Amino acid sequence: MFARLEEIQQNEFIKAAIDHVGAGVVITDPEQDDNPLIYCNQGFEELTGYKAEEVLGRNCRLLQGEETDPKHVDHVREGLANRKPVKVEMKNYRKDGTVFWNELHIFPVYIAQMDQTYFVGVQKDVSQRREQEELLGHYLSEVKRLSTPIVPVQHNISVLPLVGTIDDERLQQMLEAVSYHVKEKKEEYLILDMSAVHSYNEEVHMGVYQMNQLLDLMGTKLVITGIKPTFAIQSAPYADFSELSLQTYATVKQALQVLRT
Ligand SMILES: Cc1cc2nc3c(=O)[nH]c(=O)nc-3n(C[C@H](O)[C@H](O)[C@H](O)COP(=O)(O)O)c2cc1C
Repeated sequence: MFARLEEIQQNEFIKAAIDHVGAGVVITDPEQDDNPLIYCNQGFEELTGYKAEEVLGRNCRLLQGEETDPKHVDHVREGLANRKPVKVEMKNYRKDGTVFWNELHIFPVYIAQMDQTYFVGVQKDVSQRREQEELLGHYLSEVKRLSTPIVPVQHNISVLPLVGTIDDERLQQMLEAVSYHVKEKKEEYLILDMSAVHSYNEEVHMGVYQMNQLLDLMGTKLVITGIKPTFAIQSAPYADFSELSLQTYATVKQALQVLRT
């Protein structure tokens, strides 16, 4: 609400504010053929590289291109058909052909005086955040890969040193890596070295148990090394290893000496 300002001055203020909100703002008229743009702010011009006169009268799909995911476009189309607000992140193209990630919000606005609904769209460039997320995802999968280092030490024996915290996700990822490795190499023994595991909990126990079952099915024997005396006490609430008939040794070196003979 404005106090003591002529309508014309109010409009100037609102226009200046919308031009500088740091995002694209557009209005389309769905009563006209192909729902064309009837307004775009300065933020839209800066974001897309198009001048208002180049886009007014055209549909916003002019920003789409080869890398735009059709699923995202379907989502927008569906929302508009039902006159529902839409929020989507989609790849769009600037006038110069460069791609950006567009965080697009669209919502219907009913203007009572005209008894008509228009659509307002707000576009924000979120490319930097998307790039950081992609990079983070890449690093996380690299960390996961490196945290299951299966080392072949002989033609029929590999060692997997268990390091860090074992949670459910890590356990599944380890089982996947182990089954892939054993399937490829068809080894006789897999040594699971626990000397770098600091506390023995249910997850670790489940890990050993499930890995034993998996390897059993694949014809590879699981050998455990590096169990500290404290583990024996900590593992007491869970099932006993002896029940799994696993071979256990104090160190990897000792296991290798026995298994080689
Ligand atoms: C207000 C409004 C703003 C829009 N802004 C964009 C946009 O920035 N980028 C885009 O790719 N599509 C945008 N669209 C979506 C397209 O205009 C179009 O609705 C979409 O491509 C689905 O329709 P179609 O299958 O006819 O292409 C917008 C739509 C509306 C109503």
